[in-house]
Amino acid sequence: MECGAFKQPARRSTSLLTLGLTLLLHAANVSATGGSPSMGKEQFLAALLEQMSLPEKVGQLRMKHSPGTPPSQYALDTVAKGAVGALFTEPGFTREQLRAYQDAAVQRGRLGIPVFFAGDVVHGHRTVFPIGLGQASSWDLQAIGSAARIAAIEASADGLDMTFAPMVDLSRDPRWGRMSEGFGEDPYLVSRIAERVTQQLQGATLGAADSIMACVKHFAAYGAVEGGRDYNTTNVSTHQLFQDYLPPYQAALEAGAGAVMTALTTLNGVPATANRWLLRDILRQQWRYRGLVISDHSAVQELVAHGTAAGGEDAAQAALVAGTQMSMNDRYFEQALAQLIEQGAVPVSLLDEAVHQVLATKYDLGLFHDPYRRLGHAQHGAQPSHDPKPLHRAQAREVARRSLVLLKNQNALLPLVKRGTVAVIGPLADNPVDILGSWHASGQPGQAISLYQGLKTAVGDDAKLLYALGANISDKRDDFLLLADKTVNFDPRPPQALLAEAVAIAQQADVIVVALGEARGMSHEGASKTDLNLPTQQRELLQALKRTGKPLVLVLMNGRPLTIVEESQWADAVLETWFSGTEGGNAIADVLFGDYNPSGKLPVTFPRSVGQIPLYYAQLNTGRPFDPQQPSAYRSHYFDTDNTPLYPFGYGLSYTHFSLSPLTLSTHRLRPGHAMQVSVTLKNEGQRTGETTVQLYLRDRVASVSRPLKELKGFQKVLLAPGESRQIVFDIDTSMLAFYNQHLQRVTEPGTFDVMIGLDSQDLQKASFELDGTPP
Ligand code: BGC
Repeated sequence: MECGAFKQPARRSTSLLTLGLTLLLHAANVSATGGSPSMGKEQFLAALLEQMSLPEKVGQLRMKHSPGTPPSQYALDTVAKGAVGALFTEPGFTREQLRAYQDAAVQRGRLGIPVFFAGDVVHGHRTVFPIGLGQASSWDLQAIGSAARIAAIEASADGLDMTFAPMVDLSRDPRWGRMSEGFGEDPYLVSRIAERVTQQLQGATLGAADSIMACVKHFAAYGAVEGGRDYNTTNVSTHQLFQDYLPPYQAALEAGAGAVMTALTTLNGVPATANRWLLRDILRQQWRYRGLVISDHSAVQELVAHGTAAGGEDAAQAALVAGTQMSMNDRYFEQALAQLIEQGAVPVSLLDEAVHQVLATKYDLGLFHDPYRRLGHAQHGAQPSHDPKPLHRAQAREVARRSLVLLKNQNALLPLVKRGTVAVIGPLADNPVDILGSWHASGQPGQAISLYQGLKTAVGDDAKLLYALGANISDKRDDFLLLADKTVNFDPRPPQALLAEAVAIAQQADVIVVALGEARGMSHEGASKTDLNLPTQQRELLQALKRTGKPLVLVLMNGRPLTIVEESQWADAVLETWFSGTEGGNAIADVLFGDYNPSGKLPVTFPRSVGQIPLYYAQLNTGRPFDPQQPSAYRSHYFDTDNTPLYPFGYGLSYTHFSLSPLTLSTHRLRPGHAMQVSVTLKNEGQRTGETTVQLYLRDRVASVSRPLKELKGFQKVLLAPGESRQIVFDIDTSMLAFYNQHLQRVTEPGTFDVMIGLDSQDLQKASFELDGTPP
């Protein structure tokens, strides 16, 4: 056992030595996982807290940035003097770099309190999995969980203790680039994923060497930024907050997430980082959350720009009082907190509460027992980040292919045969950089499989592949994204030359596979858009390829729904692949050639135009619903476009065809506190084995608040051989009928409910039942 808290007796006072002995005895007794909130833990933390000076306490509340380079002497000295409680890492960091900080903390620190290391492991670490929106498209909790488990194994092996994930911001606005990171528009689906990811990141016990703590983010409602403009104001009614936006965070916390990150935004006028109502009333009191609250990057400083703090002191005070316990890359906690305490402006009990929480987090992570638990000991060496050996390629390919969504397949063009000549065209066709997506962590483009590479491996010598870029990914060379992201390749030839080259190549082929969409930086933090069309040159490329008359397969790579009404008409087949990660190219090839039958379903609605946003399936009926069969002026609709989406939530095709029998209910009267069953028979009517997701939706016809036309309440992903059928049964209990009323009470109200089942949110079979009144 190593415990840095007791390394330098010569410099310690008698009382410290006594404490050291107590702690040592204690540490010897704690379980190897160090995680249970026993009396022992509390005694240990209280004794430690008592020994800490004011600057040391303030230091614990600071998370500082550690660049992905060997730490400077200054940085190490800062850690050694106890001025930092945690470090957040840059992609590509190594254990050796991190270990130097831990050595400084535990070997040179007065009390030897270990630091913890956190980073953005959002969709994989070394092995990059599909982005959040892609994983959600699998509707496969086991696959999503496996991605999280592997991310934890890899990140902890590189020394990480915590990840800033899962990102569970519900979003119904594809203009917002960060929609890519989350799991879509639906509270139920996002919540189920949130809990699974949390469980798998944290493993069997938080203290285990291959577990990392989940820091669920961004609390709260960051996904509702006005106009989809990143960092912008959010205004969400309290009712909608409880009904739609809060459940995913709550689900992650109920699954045990050890930390929460505040949003950078204001919620109804009050910045989340200084929002007492959010951080104390809801988080601590209503939800009884007992973990750590960390601010987002520089969010404490930004309270000044938000106009809710006059300066540093004000900002630090407001954040701490509201319940933000650790600041990320901020200078105000350091500059102002000690003074605020000395002046009595902030009670020391508040400081102690936060410090206790940080120490408890380290305790739960097992770091007091062994500060090198995840870093490994120096004699074991550090694995270089670029070492391909530890990659989990098979699992990445499996998750990736399950996340691909077939949107169109006219005349069964797909799957393709592995012969003849295939023209592989487009700025994303042979691009191992963008396929990794926005938070690619320690993933290396050199280890990623591009679409071209994947197709090449799949066909071997059986078919001929031709390649052309066709268009740059962005119309402008000076696009700010290209300036910010030096990894984006830009071909300096005029657009017409690129296009002509691609058309010439396409003309020699039997089929065209064109990969279009976005650079990874276009669907990322800070990357909002008002135009969701493909860039003009990419559109022109697709049009020109269409004019060749050759069969045309459009492979989309993007981090948000795009407005592709025309593109979806021009192409014979459309496959949405999001950013599919390290094994993306192989996974897409599996689907294009039919080695895997696509099974993904959209976790988000595809609008026809930006003007329809927000467009989501769980809409209210309105007082004047529009009926396209009987169009009338004074109804809720647009003059210039349909109300309907281009592709609805839950939609996705397969190479086989499934049918659903009429549904049957076990009863038409449900008594409060009881459950009923709804059943349907799913049959694979086609010639191939395939998987699809059967979706259950409910509607409360009459209630004290207007309820959505349908809400997802269950789903089952089912694999069937050709001709095989299976009865699918969903339980419906009264808790699934509950909602928040006007007084924010969670209630069920008696009356008629519709139950709907289908393979997407639009094409549904329906039956009804009555919920009886509450028995007296
Ligand atoms: C983002 C967070 C991220 C943090 C650290 C912030 O700008 O909003 O999602 O975890 O940076 O990288």
